[in-house]
Amino acid sequence: MAQERLDKMLASRGAGSRKEVGQLIRLGRVTINGQACRDPAKKADPEQDVVCVMGVPLRTRKERYFMLNKPAGVISATEDATQKTVLELFPASERTGLAPVGRLDKDTLGLLLVTDDGALNHALTSPRRHVDKRYAALVSGSLCADAAERFAAGVELRDGTRCLPAELVVRGQTPDGWTEVEVVLHEGKYHQVKRMIAALGGHVERLERLSMGPLTLDPALERGSYRALTEEEIETLFAACR
Ligand code: URA
Repeated sequence: MAQERLDKMLASRGAGSRKEVGQLIRLGRVTINGQACRDPAKKADPEQDVVCVMGVPLRTRKERYFMLNKPAGVISATEDATQKTVLELFPASERTGLAPVGRLDKDTLGLLLVTDDGALNHALTSPRRHVDKRYAALVSGSLCADAAERFAAGVELRDGTRCLPAELVVRGQTPDGWTEVEVVLHEGKYHQVKRMIAALGGHVERLERLSMGPLTLDPALERGSYRALTEEEIETLFAACR
């Protein structure tokens, strides 16, 4: 591929406006093949050179990014001797190198990103660059009346672990007495929604992830199917990691 000016290359891949990326470059936050480059006019080849903005590689167009509407009954792993994995929802010819971004429990539904971009996967799941995750849950049992306040203050799990402040909104009640809630987490602990709800007296009967960072589950995507992310969605994901 042809060489491009660094500021133009960054701006056209969603790293910010031309002015913003110019500032980032001058501040030494952009590296080409590991060396800080402070010249916005410097030329590089996006296919040959490794260009990073604040440590996160600029997206090269070779990698694949998918949004999966995860069904129940499959595990968030690349392979397993006994259980069906989310990768088995992809044709064998497509699977090489793909991995789920983080984990959803076997019975959790909804948005799961799947990519062969290890750097983005790491950036999205790293506790240092945590992206928000929004869930819809159906809760049985008696959720305490001050559940929203307890979420906002940071729930203490039954094992004594303290969670970061989170959001809980009660959306309604089902005819059989279950409570519909929406939860936003700013971190990712094991079984976190279920454990937070359990600490408040409820039991999660059904859990679906609705969004992850800037990405929302496509309502047109049937359970168990996937689609490639659009260029715009990919850029917003990269921007969320910076
Ligand atoms: N919290 C849970 O309890 N389970 C999930 O799958 C995701 C978040």
